Amino acid sequence: MKIKKENVMHELTYASHPFDVIGWDGFNFPYAFSIHDFEPITGRVHQPPPVHQTFEAHNFVICSFCPRLYDYHPKSIPAPYNHSNIDSDEVLYYVDGDFMSRNHVEKGYISLHPGGIPHGPHPGAYERSIGQKETAELAVMVDTFRPLKLTQAALDIADGNYHTSWLE
Ligand SMILES: [Fe+2]
Repeated sequence: MKIKKENVMHELTYASHPFDVIGWDGFNFPYAFSIHDFEPITGRVHQPPPVHQTFEAHNFVICSFCPRLYDYHPKSIPAPYNHSNIDSDEVLYYVDGDFMSRNHVEKGYISLHPGGIPHGPHPGAYERSIGQKETAELAVMVDTFRPLKLTQAALDIADGNYHTSWLE
């Protein structure tokens, strides 16, 4: 296998072919990485979203929200801050666990926060988060650097009231 790094070619020889495929055109990276092996950085105060970043491409990033300790400063508020991610559309797939910052979100739920739309924890989430030590949540986020367009299939399953879920 020829590997180019910093403009220098390196050669590795494997005992068997490293890719379990018949053919490969060079556009797909045939590697698997389990979300269960991802360890996010934690801290005394709330860490910014890049600590969850798992993959990066030229037009999107993938973040993994995994079981972890919450912020451990004695006065920390573990719920995340409100934001409007003006450079990205943000898709979240809630896989498992309890999603502390959301009131009506369950396993299997997918949310889309278009770039520039302010959003954050639901009413009561800040108060609920105080004193919590850890989370068992599992969620995947895709942040795209260009706007997403909804398909009819997505519109067919849309919860038309999601935008009102921040109202008490
Ligand atoms: Fe967000």
